[in-house]
Amino acid sequence: MDIIGDEEKEALMEVIESGYLFRYGDLSDSRFKAKVWNLEQDFAKKFGTNHALAVSSGTTALLTALWTLGIGPGDEVIVPGYTFIASITSIITARAIPVLAEVDETLTLDPEDVRKKITPRTKAVMLVHMLGNPGHIDEILKITQEHNIHLIEDCAQALGATYNGKYVGTFGIIGTYSLNVYKTITAGDGGIVITNDEALYKRAFSLHDQGHLPLRQGVEQGKRTVLGLNFRMNEITAAVAGAQLKKLDYIKSTLKKNKNHLKAIISELKEIEFRKILDEQGEVGTLLTFFMPTIESAEKLSEKIGCTTIAKSGWHVYTNMEHLLGKMTITDEGCPFTCPYYKGPEVNYYKGMLPQTDDLLNRAINISVGVSDTGLGSAYGITINSSKEEIDQVGKNLLQAIKDCL
Ligand SMILES: Cc1ncc(COP(=O)(O)O)c(C=O)c1O
Repeated sequence: MDIIGDEEKEALMEVIESGYLFRYGDLSDSRFKAKVWNLEQDFAKKFGTNHALAVSSGTTALLTALWTLGIGPGDEVIVPGYTFIASITSIITARAIPVLAEVDETLTLDPEDVRKKITPRTKAVMLVHMLGNPGHIDEILKITQEHNIHLIEDCAQALGATYNGKYVGTFGIIGTYSLNVYKTITAGDGGIVITNDEALYKRAFSLHDQGHLPLRQGVEQGKRTVLGLNFRMNEITAAVAGAQLKKLDYIKSTLKKNKNHLKAIISELKEIEFRKILDEQGEVGTLLTFFMPTIESAEKLSEKIGCTTIAKSGWHVYTNMEHLLGKMTITDEGCPFTCPYYKGPEVNYYKGMLPQTDDLLNRAINISVGVSDTGLGSAYGITINSSKEEIDQVGKNLLQAIKDCL
């Protein structure tokens, strides 16, 4: 949100003045700007993928991806225990079973645990690139290939991150992004699905638009092949998203510069361990994450600087997802957990089921780099607009606070 400005305003006004707010319009009318279509083309080009589909959110992007792959009743999808709830609820909404796996010091899926969690019912692994960083793409891709299952990449938190020079989201069969207000670029809300496979793109398109094929005009009766829904993006959202996409490289390079500066200042402390980054060049740099040596020192530090450890940070940790732990499904019969198509053992989620994840997150502290509201005030948090002097001061404050808590 820090860099929303004239470019977004101008693109938005073009839409308002055109009178076309819907993604479909009269192509022969020069006022129609086809912002959604152009966003899709620009996104696909930038990310080096054949197809991009704009949708209403990162959540509907995930659901579209799962449905596109035909994942549903009886299937299992492996997903990390540290992720936003939408990674998990999209699987449940598709009527499949989320199988939670451990994260390691990258705070993304631990490949070793993924191997252990595979069963004959596993249809996909959902690799979530958390906090701006690529996960273990090579290892997890290898596992999915060995077992002939899908790799879905949830890139909501890593829009713009690359791994070995290639954008995340382009390694698996389908990748998804979010454009909500906490993401690298934003349009308030919105999402993108990407794939190289034309047949999957067409199916994804149909699923997100009541069964229609891409570029429909009118209702085209008789050509629909699947019962879809409406997850469409509108022209207003796409106008802002398109302007934001042009700023992605600037955002990424500035965040990384700020983060590396802050990291260098506190690196003199040998007692803390930084989160493992698998591709220093490719990360987005939205957060600086480190592990304190003990739970006690982490608790002490979080209290001192006015945050929480990641374990207590609310939404993103399986132990805090009471609606998941309680399997609070929408209707009383408890589908998919009671689904007759599901042939596995009873599924339960409980605190302590992922001890490695618990230990890491209990000791982990996130320092905001790219969120306007850092939650830490100006003493300990920085933003994309922080000056060198401000970062120096925050670094000093942080260094002292950590020393006091060791
Ligand atoms: C990892 C992850 N997946 C999915 C989503 C869902 O995105 P949205 O809020 O756009 O629905 C988020 C959003 O925070 C996320 O962090």
